[in-house]
Amino acid sequence: MARINRIGVFTSGGDAPGMNAAIRAVVRTGISEGLDVFGIYRGYEGLIDGQIEPMQSHSVSNIIQRGGTILKTARSKRFMEKVGRIQAYENLKKYKIDALIAIGGDGTFTGADVFNSEFDYPILGLPGTIDNDLYGTDYTIGFDTAVNTVVEAADKIRDTATSHDRLFFIEVMGRDAGFIALRSGVAVGAEFILVPETTTYIDNLARLLKHDWRKSKTSGLVIVAEGDDAGGAYEIARQVQEKVPELDCRVTILGHIQRGGSPSSNDRFLASILGYAAVKSLRDGHRGEMVGMIDKQVSFTPFEKAIKYNKDINHQILEMSRILAL
Ligand code: F6P
Repeated sequence: MARINRIGVFTSGGDAPGMNAAIRAVVRTGISEGLDVFGIYRGYEGLIDGQIEPMQSHSVSNIIQRGGTILKTARSKRFMEKVGRIQAYENLKKYKIDALIAIGGDGTFTGADVFNSEFDYPILGLPGTIDNDLYGTDYTIGFDTAVNTVVEAADKIRDTATSHDRLFFIEVMGRDAGFIALRSGVAVGAEFILVPETTTYIDNLARLLKHDWRKSKTSGLVIVAEGDDAGGAYEIARQVQEKVPELDCRVTILGHIQRGGSPSSNDRFLASILGYAAVKSLRDGHRGEMVGMIDKQVSFTPFEKAIKYNKDINHQILEMSRILAL
C-alpha cells in the first residue's frame, strides 16, 4: 500500500453545523501525524477546478463554534460524469495528494465510492448531514444542532398557537427521512408527527382531530417532515382544514434555518472524534469507508452499505409520541 504523505479534505452536499469542527480535527490531526493537509473548496466542484489550498494549524483557528463550512460546499453534477472525475484525479496527481477525507451525506459518498473504485484511490468519509439518514452511525454531524433549532422555533410557535387556539403544521427538513421530525416532535410534545417512513392517512388525521383529540386541547403542533408521502405542510394543512373547517390552521416552514447556527456541543464532540479517527485510520489502511459512531465506538462502514442500507426511524418512539400527546 502506497505511503500517505499528503491528504485533502472537503465538504460536499448540504452544509451541516459541525462541519467546521470536523475540518479542524482533520487538519490538526494530519499535521500532528506529519502530513501535509490541503483544503479543497466547494466539494467535488473544487476538486475538478483545482480550488485546492494548503492548510496550516492556524487555518482552522476559531472555527469550531461556527456553522456552515469554511471550505464551502456544492452539489456537483459534473462529478457524476466520468470526464469530471478524470479531471479531479488529474488535479490530485498534480498536487500529489495521496488520500481524501470527504465530509457529507449519501450523495457525497456515492461520488466517493465510484471514484474510489474507478481510480483505486483512498477516500474515507465523515457523516455530515442534518438528516441523520446514514446507515453505519447512530448520529450524523449536524443532526443534534438542527433538532435544537427546530425545538427552539416550535416552542415559540407553541406560545402563539396556545394564545390563539390554533393548530400549527410545522414543516421540518428531511426529504427521505423523518429523524429530525421524530426527535424534535417528541421534544416539543407535538400532537402529531408525520414522517416519510409511515403512510399518512389524511382522513384518519382529520378524524382524530375532530373527534378523538382531547376536548380540553384547543391548540396543537403537527410536525411534518418535508418528504412525507401526503405532501408538505401546506398541502396537509389544506386538506385537514377542508375536512375539519372549525379548526384554525396555520403553517410554518422552518426551511434552511435548520442548517445554520453554531453547532451544539454534541455535534462539535462527534465531529472532533470522527475527524481525528479518520486521519488515524487512513494511516492504518482504511479506505472506501464511512467513519461513524455506533454505541459510542468509532465504526467503519463501506460506502456502498452506508448509501444503500436504510437506517429506519424507531417506530416505538413514534408510537410513544402519540400516547404522550393524548
Ligand atoms: O440533505 C440535507 C437537506 O437539508 C435535506 O434535509 C433537504 O431536503 C435538502 O438538504 C435541501 O437541499 P438544498 O439546500 O440544496 O435545497
